[in-house]
Amino acid sequence: MMIKACIFDLDGVIVDSAKYHFTAWQELANSLGISFTKEQNEDLKGVSRMDSLNYILKLGSVELSQEEKEKLAASKNDRYLQYVDKMDKSEILPGVEEFIRECREASIKIALGSSSKNARPILEKTNLIDLFEVIVDGNNTINTKPDPEVFIKGATKLKVKAEETVVFEDSIKGIRAANKAYFRSIGIGEWHTLIEADYVIPGFENFKLTDLKEIF
Ligand code: BG6
Ligand code: MG
Repeated sequence: MMIKACIFDLDGVIVDSAKYHFTAWQELANSLGISFTKEQNEDLKGVSRMDSLNYILKLGSVELSQEEKEKLAASKNDRYLQYVDKMDKSEILPGVEEFIRECREASIKIALGSSSKNARPILEKTNLIDLFEVIVDGNNTINTKPDPEVFIKGATKLKVKAEETVVFEDSIKGIRAANKAYFRSIGIGEWHTLIEADYVIPGFENFKLTDLKEIF
């Protein structure tokens, strides 16, 4: 197959920010008397801010007004932004920047496909923003993963077809989104959590374009 484009998720694929989302949600959950574990956090990967809050409130059977929920979501984001503020290139996961540069040199188009509304500031802090021809994030999408909207928009803007585009994702919801719209999918993480992906790699360390071409 001819690979024309790659679409990258952000959190957990390009930057090691999943741990900050987890800490910020855990603090919020605990402040409401709700316990929230790393295993439960797996369910929130790729999930929008408000849907994540609703998931946590449900765990504690807590019902709140829309206004109260907006406040809590904003306070979680303020906490998260304290981490974002301190981000620099050291936050970039090993090998991913090199891999993206190799793709660009081979004229493979590059887009971001993230559920986050904080994608641009993170790409700026880590000095990666110029590597992306197209950025689709939580500010340009209505439906959250596993809905494929974010990837379809990315491919449309890049003017490529799903079948010639590889999606890199660390969440099962993101893999499902990619598969649903006939993208090629590579899971970043462990086989047992990402079993539905076309292929799974632990990370981009030592992963080269020739490896990708061997897979597809
Ligand atoms: C996804 C993360 O990329 O973005 C989720 O995996 C997060 O954990 C979601 O909730 C929304 O992020 P943000 O930055 O808009 O709150
Ligand atoms: Mg992710």
